[in-house]
Amino acid sequence: MQKQQHSNHITVGIVTISDRASAGAYDDLGGPALKQVAQKVGWHVLAEAIVPDEKARIQEAIRSFVTQGCGLVLATGGTGIGPRDVTPEAIRAIMRVELPGFGEVMRAESMKITPNAILSRNLAAVVDQALVIALPGKPSGAVECLSFVQGAIPHGVAVAQGTPTSC
Ligand code: MTE
Repeated sequence: MQKQQHSNHITVGIVTISDRASAGAYDDLGGPALKQVAQKVGWHVLAEAIVPDEKARIQEAIRSFVTQGCGLVLATGGTGIGPRDVTPEAIRAIMRVELPGFGEVMRAESMKITPNAILSRNLAAVVDQALVIALPGKPSGAVECLSFVQGAIPHGVAVAQGTPTSC
């Protein structure tokens, strides 16, 4: 049963999507970087996971976060064009609706920082009653992209959960 979340009282799940980090070949820096931002804003980080670039594992992590009551899921990694990058496909296969504005803004703002931003297929979508945001894998890129869309997150989470709310 999902708890209703209002204004800034957001419960977050963070999933790092990386073959190498999940195998322990290097430390996950993206997840902790996002956790630090979330906590600074006052959100409650309820669940964290590191999974390989495999659709089923990504979907399993997102669904598990939603079941645990997360209204917001932040994913980092796998948004590019590498042969193993499947994060957008994994999310699109389980989403109810996509929110194209999030990807558009993240890419447009990131292009002011790096031309490589155009290589990211950043996106946001509603999965069950949670807002899911797919951020790039580079920790600084993930934090930057989150900052570009952060203002819409509280309202987005509330609407995704069906909470009566005014704009
Ligand atoms: N966006 C921002 N803001 N900052 C960055 O450093 N890196 C880009 C891009 N988006 C980047 C960014 C790079 S180098 C790539 S390859 C793509 O995100 C995809 O990254 P991913 O496959 O790790 O998700």
